[in-house]
Amino acid sequence: MMTRDEAITLIQNKVPNDNLCRHMIAVGAIMRHFASRFSADPELWEITGILHDIDLGTTDDPQLHGNLGAEWLGAMGMPPAMLQAVRAHAGHVPCESPLDTVLLAGDQLSGLITACALIKGRLLANVTADTVRKRFKEKRFAAGADREMIRLCETVGIPLDEFIAEGVTAMQRVAHDLGL
Ligand SMILES: [Fe+2]
Repeated sequence: MMTRDEAITLIQNKVPNDNLCRHMIAVGAIMRHFASRFSADPELWEITGILHDIDLGTTDDPQLHGNLGAEWLGAMGMPPAMLQAVRAHAGHVPCESPLDTVLLAGDQLSGLITACALIKGRLLANVTADTVRKRFKEKRFAAGADREMIRLCETVGIPLDEFIAEGVTAMQRVAHDLGL
């Protein structure tokens, strides 16, 4: 398994878009946090989050996105569970494990939390779980953050309120890397 720093360097080389790289770091932080609920490997979960959109600098074709990334990661020797999660987050295969589901839900949650930070002085420190819960109900706010996908956390036993609150805390821990 590569280290967090190696994963970040890799995406910065592959994905020439700072916002996208920050998004991937945010998802990584959320993943690392929730690994403990499943007694899972926090490194695997965080690196999966950081690398999940690695192919987006190369393709935005929905048929390729996710499959191409998984292919690259397979060639780098990354574990099958990571490749499966990357394919599942792009809808190519069904979710089979908490890793898959938390990636799918966390991907969307990170977008909602980032949008909340942007209207709170661009600072995650100003974002509370309450802010995000209220905005979750406002369908027009950050409409790209799919609320039904965020709710999938409940299918692996994480209540929505906890998913939001702990997602905020997880992102606050890497606020510096996110520039928020
Ligand atoms: Fe993503």
